[in-house]
Amino acid sequence: MITEKDIEKLFEKQLEKIRDPGLRARVVKTFVLASERGGWTSVADLARMPFTLLTDPRGVNFVEHTIAVTEGAAALGRAQTEAYAHLPYAINFDRLYAGGLLHDVGKLLEIEPDGKGGFRKSLAGQYARHPVSGAIVAAECGLPGDVVNVIVCHAKEGEGRPQVVEAVLIHQADFATFDPLMMKQKGMLIES
Ligand SMILES: [Fe+2]
Repeated sequence: MITEKDIEKLFEKQLEKIRDPGLRARVVKTFVLASERGGWTSVADLARMPFTLLTDPRGVNFVEHTIAVTEGAAALGRAQTEAYAHLPYAINFDRLYAGGLLHDVGKLLEIEPDGKGGFRKSLAGQYARHPVSGAIVAAECGLPGDVVNVIVCHAKEGEGRPQVVEAVLIHQADFATFDPLMMKQKGMLIES
């Protein structure tokens, strides 16, 4: 079983950036519930889980991806905060860190071991992609609507729809990790 302590250890640095203890606790609870529903029983399994099935992740796992996207989005938010004399919109870093950590939590329901050492899309994942399933679990765990917006609108489901600014930052940070891999697979990435 994956416990709250396991999740707190995995994402320690990002969780400590969430100032609201209630929000932090709900983020942890969402990971525990999604792990349970997805049948993930150990942290070692999470470290083996690819972050995507859409392209070869080349060894990047779900936990590493979640951290990279969360920190990438936070860096985008900090860059604007520091560079602009007047930030035209408020960036809520509690929302950003909570949403970043949870943006792909639905993948715990969408991806499953294939029994042959690899991974495949689950039946639940065929019914609802991870932005939708993640939003449902997060809402069940008491995450507020603004964080749910980040989860449900971070991928293509959110394109052309109203988004909180933190969803925009997480979307960009997410694609910054995904596009180079997809380009590499297609022979479109110049590496010199
Ligand atoms: Fe992602």
